[in-house]
Amino acid sequence: MNLYEAISLRKSHRNFLMEEIEPETLAEIGAFYEEAPSLFPGIKTEIGITDNTDGKHAPKGFFGVKAPYYLTMYSEKKDRYMMNAGCICEQLSLYMLTLGLGSCFLGSVSYKKDARTRGDMEFVIVIAFGKVNGPLTRRAAEAKRLSMQELCSIREEPKHWTQSILEVARLAPSAYNAQPWRFVATGSRIHFFSKKKDFTHPGKWDEFDFGCLFAHVLIAADELWLDVDLIRLENISQKNFKMSQYVLSAIIKVE
Ligand SMILES: Cc1cc2nc3c(=O)[nH]c(=O)nc-3n(C[C@H](O)[C@H](O)[C@H](O)COP(=O)(O)O)c2cc1C
Repeated sequence: MNLYEAISLRKSHRNFLMEEIEPETLAEIGAFYEEAPSLFPGIKTEIGITDNTDGKHAPKGFFGVKAPYYLTMYSEKKDRYMMNAGCICEQLSLYMLTLGLGSCFLGSVSYKKDARTRGDMEFVIVIAFGKVNGPLTRRAAEAKRLSMQELCSIREEPKHWTQSILEVARLAPSAYNAQPWRFVATGSRIHFFSKKKDFTHPGKWDEFDFGCLFAHVLIAADELWLDVDLIRLENISQKNFKMSQYVLSAIIKVE
């Protein structure tokens, strides 16, 4: 299984075996993180892995999913750092699956104030991971997601490769499965919008969720040999939409 195949097969795991993972496998996760492309390479991040195989090292203030390992992500607090972190974390989660490990993002974990920082970086999220009890994968059709009709408005019939990108975007995980996105497809372009909520209170995880979605887009582009630019188009940025807020566009270039 490669990362692209993992997109269709992944699911959140909440039932882990409290078993050790081979040190080489943990090292592979660290090496993958070092090489994983980020959306904004100027933003410094760091990860730490906690061994909880004895059940005594869950994060402080932790409640929820009991797992043998927890990966903690830290990031510099710069513009769009949550989106950047989401993109890296989703790649990590998919990579874990290719190694035969299940995982679950834990946005509900809150560290005590003194443990929330690491140098000049802030705690972002914890990923519970390990060997799982029960099936490791599920079929894409079993993923609880809005249908493409509900998510995407078609301005111009999407090209074949645009459809492939739309499909991986649809499968992205999100906090509470909120799927805070909507897509507009025009031939070989996809414009991504965030469902507009109260502007003064954007959803806490919305940016992170979009990062997960863009991880899927980057992985699919790489696998399908597509040249995809993720950029913010000025002409759309300046428009004011009633029900949504413009985030980014994927421009798919094919020779
Ligand atoms: C930012 C973020 C935070 C999440 N926090 C939690 C959490 O605290 N507890 C939990 O059980 N699942 C959590 N999840 C997992 C989502 O509930 C899950 O991805 C979503 O329901 C879709 O299900 P799936 O991942 O099985 O496709 C989180 C997911 C994301 C993206």
